[in-house]
Amino acid sequence: MKKEGYKTLYPTQEEAFKMGALTDENLVLSCPTASGKTLVAEICIINTLMKKSGKAIYLLPLRALASEKYEDFKKYSSLGFKVALTSGDLDSSDPYLSRYDIIIATNEKMDSLIRHNASWLREIRVIVVDEIHVINDPSRGVTLEITIAKLRRIAPHAKILALSATISNSSEIAEWLNAKLVESDWRPIPLKEGVLLNDEITFNTGESKFLKKIFEDELLDLTSETIKENGQVLIFTNTRKSTITLSKKICKVVDHLLKKNEKKNLERLADSLLKSREQTNLGRVLSETIRRGVAFHNAGLPYEYRRIVEEGFKRTQVKVVVATPTLSAGLNMPARRVIIKDYRRYDTGLGYIPISVLEIKQMAGRAGRPKYDEIGEAVLIAHDKREFEFLMTNYVFGEPERIWSKLATEPALRTHILSSIATNFTETYEELIDFLKETFYAKQYSYEIIKGVTEKIINYLTEEEMILIKQNVFKATPFGKKISELYIDPKSGEIIKDALFTSHNRYITEFSFLHLISHTPDMEPLYLRRKDYEELEILADSVKDEILVEIPDKWENTYGYEFFLSEVKTASLINDWINEESEEKIEEKYDIGSGDLQRIVETAEWLIHACYEIAKLFKYDWMIPKLLTLEKRISKGVKEELLELAKLKGVGRVRARVLFNAGYKTIIDLKKARINELVKIPLIGSNIAKKILEQVGGAINRETWRKLSSEEREKQLNLEKYQK
Ligand SMILES: Nc1ncnc2c1ncn2[C@@H]1O[C@H](COP(=O)(O)OP(=O)(O)OP(=O)(O)O)[C@@H](O)[C@H]1O
Ligand SMILES: [Mg+2]
Repeated sequence: MKKEGYKTLYPTQEEAFKMGALTDENLVLSCPTASGKTLVAEICIINTLMKKSGKAIYLLPLRALASEKYEDFKKYSSLGFKVALTSGDLDSSDPYLSRYDIIIATNEKMDSLIRHNASWLREIRVIVVDEIHVINDPSRGVTLEITIAKLRRIAPHAKILALSATISNSSEIAEWLNAKLVESDWRPIPLKEGVLLNDEITFNTGESKFLKKIFEDELLDLTSETIKENGQVLIFTNTRKSTITLSKKICKVVDHLLKKNEKKNLERLADSLLKSREQTNLGRVLSETIRRGVAFHNAGLPYEYRRIVEEGFKRTQVKVVVATPTLSAGLNMPARRVIIKDYRRYDTGLGYIPISVLEIKQMAGRAGRPKYDEIGEAVLIAHDKREFEFLMTNYVFGEPERIWSKLATEPALRTHILSSIATNFTETYEELIDFLKETFYAKQYSYEIIKGVTEKIINYLTEEEMILIKQNVFKATPFGKKISELYIDPKSGEIIKDALFTSHNRYITEFSFLHLISHTPDMEPLYLRRKDYEELEILADSVKDEILVEIPDKWENTYGYEFFLSEVKTASLINDWINEESEEKIEEKYDIGSGDLQRIVETAEWLIHACYEIAKLFKYDWMIPKLLTLEKRISKGVKEELLELAKLKGVGRVRARVLFNAGYKTIIDLKKARINELVKIPLIGSNIAKKILEQVGGAINRETWRKLSSEEREKQLNLEKYQK
């Protein structure tokens, strides 16, 4: 700890240890942002693992957070503890994990590991649940709640340490977990929260501060003031589009405040961003704002870009980040000032509604993080006196809400009930009820309320032949078991099974499968624009014989037909992707970001994999090779002829295509290639060429390599000189 720079414990940490963080008792830590909750968990994990053999798991709601923790926890390998990060493939039991001591996982991945009955689950001694307030999340809360309830049964003697933001019913969580509660409002770095009206910021501390008006735009004034004082700024806004427009506006101001060496670093960062993946317009816009010290961050950005922006901000190169609230939870960001530009969010059906206090506090809490700053400031912006009063009372002095279990939602419960039965977790109706009675939902409401939903779900699962009930004992069918392991909604399983069943003697193409998976509830629908209509109708008509489900009638079921068109749109997007349309064109044509494309592609790959497994189960042998190839093509985004080349490391879809077109069509062709010929091909630099040849077992002439790499270095030097 000393080596890491920790000198003393924070008061909240001290309190946690006094309350039993090192004993076998469960503990809930409900403390403000940046109060050092992680360190308590770390010490608790190390303490337990040193005393008892076994494993510790650390659960987080987002992949980005899991990666951040993993980077941080790797240091414990010096104590002999092996640390693993697992967040990807949901249809695998990852047996390799049994060799690790500390396992960092996303909540969903943990759920899937339980479904696969991973061999090491019973060795768990400590369970850390970070950001436990996510239970409140309508789409992902249920998984977390069920996962915790299951883990408590699987490893009944494991210690639970739950970390939570300040919420008003943390005692309820503590009661549920049979845990002691440590509650505090202490923060190591004071965080002043305030509201700006005209040129005055009024803080919760009673102080106020005048803002020099230079730009006739409060956002620019607030930003430039902090930059001039050598601080960094994080701005939250409510739409992806406005993260971009605001970045463009702000970078004009920030640009003038940058020092020479800062600009140089930013140039490098922007170049590395462009090189990190296939280029798109969005990437070019981002690289341009980064050159001027500002970046945007939203779910439309691909992972690679998001990571570069986060790292650039942490390393204090990027001065301002404009983000949607996706960036609000848990990450350690060095922002001295957080500006919350929008406190409302658009909700289909409800219009613009105010964001919860809990979420605003999470955003505000990104400011003033230890190690980075000595003060932190979070500012909301009011446009008149009434709004000022509202923001002060509701947010600045507001209490974060209670959190509520979302267990009673049918689709969520459907999948979890099936998985409980499939893993023999609950074998009878009584056992299922007993288990559901252990959830947070039953604690908050009463089990009676979900009884009806539970019965309905049991009936559904029986009708769809996913489970059998014999003398009051549940048993999952092989089909039910498969669905649970595949981690898909039983409804998706039903749709796929029925479609495959009717596929005999039918005209089946790749589009048939792509539409089928777009029709399942596991694929997020694409938004249908007015202008899409005509084109999609023509497309839908041309593929109607290939569609494996019943097409809703345009006149009798307008609503259903619109859904169908939106499914055709998704299928057509994936189809473009596997036929090597550039990301740039796809972004433009479908009006999405590369981040969305990555998500859709990932989901598609997973659902085609599910089709493949279901086809295998029901012995539709003729479609198995088709599905296997399709899965690979989706994963790489290429036509079939490129699959061999795209497997190579450092060769994505774009490079595979240029190699192929240059006559290198197979691994054998590449093996025979000479390095000085490969580098003549566009996009193949000397390093990539070397990497390719090393992988395929080709020969590299030493003398040629020396010459090439010195030429490359010279090119780089000239480029830098030119940029100077
Ligand atoms: N005792 C300590 N002394 C010095 N620095 C500390 C101490 N404990 C924690 N820190 C630092 O405080 C920072 C914030 O800690 P951490 O990320 O655990 O906050 P948190 O409570 O989890 O906040 P959030 O709710 O926002 O996730 C980290 O950079 C951590 O290294
Ligand atoms: Mg945290």
